[in-house]
Amino acid sequence: MSFDPVDTLDMSTPAAKRASYELLVAQVRSLLSGERDWVANVAQFSALVYQSVPGLNWAGFYLARGEELVVGPFQGKVACVRIPFARGVCGACARTREVQLVADVHAFPGHIACDAASNAELVLPVLAGDRLVAVFDLDSPITGRFDAEDARGFQLAVAALAEGTDWP
Ligand code: SME
Repeated sequence: MSFDPVDTLDMSTPAAKRASYELLVAQVRSLLSGERDWVANVAQFSALVYQSVPGLNWAGFYLARGEELVVGPFQGKVACVRIPFARGVCGACARTREVQLVADVHAFPGHIACDAASNAELVLPVLAGDRLVAVFDLDSPITGRFDAEDARGFQLAVAALAEGTDWP
């Protein structure tokens, strides 16, 4: 399959950001079409996001394994392998199943610093029906990098991934 994603989505204005997330969701559907294997799809999803969304230093998955998260396919520097649901921004997302939008990770109690360069974080639950299968974690070196529009855009992108994938 040939696929040619936009290398850097324009997120310079609220209107550009909204249009860029619409494009990202369309790209996710196109990239994953015809393939439902979960490892292939989460790997491709991480790569697409890291390649096309500006201002990131990590993008990837932590997989739900009992009351713990285990690192899955990602793009960026090597990261913490296991995170209990009780800890960190990712653990808070897994525990509550709610999007965690953190403008300044240094102000988040219990934040786990995998990379000292990270200053902002966005974590979204990945649900297969009512089952939490993973969280999708985004880190940025830019304080305040993520806003409600980013959260909304990534919720749509993650929903497209979840629908297009057979989860174990
Ligand atoms: N900062 C995360 C840990 C994962 S890394 O950012 C890749 C947290 O506090 O859960």
